[in-house]
Amino acid sequence: NEIYLHGLEGRIPPFTTDPTALEASARERMEPGPFWYVAGSAGSGATDRANRAAFDQRRLVPRMLTDATERSLRTTVLGTELPAPVLLAPVGVQSILHPDGELATARAAAELGVPIVLSTASSYTLEQVAEASGAGPRWFQLYWPNDDAVCVSILERARAAGYTTLVVTLDTWTLAWRPHDLDQSYLPFIRGVGTAIPLSDPAFRAGLARSPEDDPGSAVLHWVSMFTGTDRGWDRLSFLRAHWDGPILLKGVLHPEDARRAVDAGMDGVIVSNHGGRQVDGAIAALDALPAIAEEVGAEAEVLFDSGVRGGADVLKALALGAGAVLLGRPYAYGLAHDGADGVRHVLRGLLADLELTLGLSGHRSPADLSPAALTRQP
Ligand code: FNR
Repeated sequence: NEIYLHGLEGRIPPFTTDPTALEASARERMEPGPFWYVAGSAGSGATDRANRAAFDQRRLVPRMLTDATERSLRTTVLGTELPAPVLLAPVGVQSILHPDGELATARAAAELGVPIVLSTASSYTLEQVAEASGAGPRWFQLYWPNDDAVCVSILERARAAGYTTLVVTLDTWTLAWRPHDLDQSYLPFIRGVGTAIPLSDPAFRAGLARSPEDDPGSAVLHWVSMFTGTDRGWDRLSFLRAHWDGPILLKGVLHPEDARRAVDAGMDGVIVSNHGGRQVDGAIAALDALPAIAEEVGAEAEVLFDSGVRGGADVLKALALGAGAVLLGRPYAYGLAHDGADGVRHVLRGLLADLELTLGLSGHRSPADLSPAALTRQP
């Protein structure tokens, strides 16, 4: 109705509401460096394309006269009610997309009650983002440092600042071969100094010979080395469990046996994700990995999903295949680049409206109504 009224007044949306045109629209406005930081993926881009193809291969089979006039997107994730089965995925270094970066994202999300998942590679400190998010729901994404004192310090700060749920990203223990970033020597990324959380951390600073202000290069290299490597194995998850008293989800799980190990290790769930195709080039599409993981652990743990979600129908397809909710990545980053908090709000409201309409038009009243029976698969 709001849009019809705007139409009568001759007002049009600030930028496109077409999720497939959003990237091109962002490209017109962004510098190439930040644009390719968002748009790029690993290697040949095969997994990024596979993520989209997996959505295209599934089609909703709408049902008629199901009385979906009254409907709601409300859903429960980890025992907490959310306005919709949608969260904002962790995206690092947002200040290179807009000067307000994560602060703008946090403000827009809080207004809509949509949880943010703040990245360890944030350009603002977790306390600054918490203040911007106010009463809004917020989760924290950990890149797991190899220094236990730094890890505990970051976790304690996150808890104190009101982040309720910990997301531990497993798939990025070193950065993949990302041609678009390599072609510019990661310059936009480094300029964005996506290191605010570690650099502001007393335990991290204590390990530096010179302060980050006096010697930023050494601090950044120390930061990179601290988050690189796989020495933190399955048996070390008990360490995180002991230092975080809220729910913990493992992000980047693609194999049902890994999901099983996560649950056996006392984790509360997993996020089925291939990092938007940015890590293992040629990896399985995240949507193709979802059904077996939901089958393996869905009855006893939370199964969330990301990688390739662009519109409302995509959210419904992921829910039908067993996800409790989805995380949105690049689309809101493009919204931020367009217009700060207003741009994030525009993208998010568009996605939620599309989701709500498509839910009803396909014959469902609530996210809980979705099951694999809602879908058919095209070759
Ligand atoms: C990411 N992603 C990510 N994940 C994470 O755990 N920590 C991080 O700091 C980042 N940073 C990041 C930056 C950018 C620019 C992108 C595009 C992605 C991955 C992100 O959380 C999510 O898994 C994907 O973005 C989901 O795929 P789509 O929605 O972008 O296709």
